Amino acid sequence: MRLSRIQTRWYRTDTPEALEEALTEGARLLYNGGLVAFPTETVYGLGAHSFRPQAIRKIFQVKGRPPDNPLIVHLAHPRDMCLVAEDIPTEAYQLAENFWPGPLTLVLKKRKEMLSQLSGGLSTVAVRIPAHPLALELLKKLNAPVSAPSANLSGNPSPTRAEHVWEDLGGKIEAILDGGDAQVGLESTVLALHTRAPVLLRPGGITREELEDYLRKKITIPESNEHEHGETSSTPLSPGMKYRHYAPRAPLYLFLGTPHQIEKNVKEYIKNYREQNLKVGVICSEELAHTLSQKSISSGTIIEVLGSRRFPSQLAATLFAAMRRLDEQGAEVILAEGYSEKGMGLALMNRLKKAAKEIIK
Ligand code: TXA
Ligand code: MG
Repeated sequence: MRLSRIQTRWYRTDTPEALEEALTEGARLLYNGGLVAFPTETVYGLGAHSFRPQAIRKIFQVKGRPPDNPLIVHLAHPRDMCLVAEDIPTEAYQLAENFWPGPLTLVLKKRKEMLSQLSGGLSTVAVRIPAHPLALELLKKLNAPVSAPSANLSGNPSPTRAEHVWEDLGGKIEAILDGGDAQVGLESTVLALHTRAPVLLRPGGITREELEDYLRKKITIPESNEHEHGETSSTPLSPGMKYRHYAPRAPLYLFLGTPHQIEKNVKEYIKNYREQNLKVGVICSEELAHTLSQKSISSGTIIEVLGSRRFPSQLAATLFAAMRRLDEQGAEVILAEGYSEKGMGLALMNRLKKAAKEIIK
């Protein structure tokens, strides 16, 4: 179905008056069934009132999102879990107490009367309380749960700035609230609690180690989520993980191995692609960038430095913006450095693997 273009209002939030207007208008638009993009600490979300079926349907339309991929419900307070979920285990409240507001999403048993589209037809529902003050204020003002996927077109890298939302959804949604750069830069961790033992469905802003330390038990990662990249036909517990994701337009090659092997392979690939006259983009750490900076290697190559290898959170925070910048600059092929999967490295590598056309070992 073709969607008619609408006027997308852009709300700044950098003065107290602007902030007040953004929140009031954002809540009003959501209440009336509109779609409003808002900042969270992870990435920008595309919000709709969870009890407005029309608005929920519109989310899937404007994003081009497959109908079997469920949305996360954003709440203002842990007690609101019972608005959308039932049979909530004690563990959910314990995790909420420790990690909310924050980048952790819990999958619970859905209340039967909840709209089934919201959950992609599943009998479960995902919930979280975001840690961004603007998101929290908006939720409190609306006084209702807000369903919000990442505010990108399906398949594109998630938006970490209001401008990214505009690129993908300008003219299709009612409003964008501009809250600057997202701090975490990757989506929330999705943890299933309706299963016999907790299952990590998507690594994200809260690390596996943090969850294991807190729960004092090992957390399973479904194999299909751990190693796959690109599209698959299996049916993972979390439907979103089976789709190719987070990908820039140009084919991305991900390099694994020791820093020395990666350096050697990346240099070789740059040389080959340059000989074919292709515009090469590289996504890497400042450590690798340093070794590439000789003119003979880097001339005509666009190098996007994410940060230092020593700080995976820094690499994670800048990854999606780097992918979008390479697209903008017309990179025809992208070479990306792989990292250790410890801590935030697990989520970072998950997104890189999903974006990758091929993994080079
Ligand atoms: O950080 C985030 O989580 C951001 C911000 C806006 O909150 N949101 C986000 O939403 O990343 P989205 O829709 O792009 O990703 C939601 C993920 C998908 O992989 C989806 O399959 C999974 O969560 N999910 C949602 N509900 C689920 C459910 N009931 N069972 C299993 N997985 C679910
Ligand atoms: Mg998404």
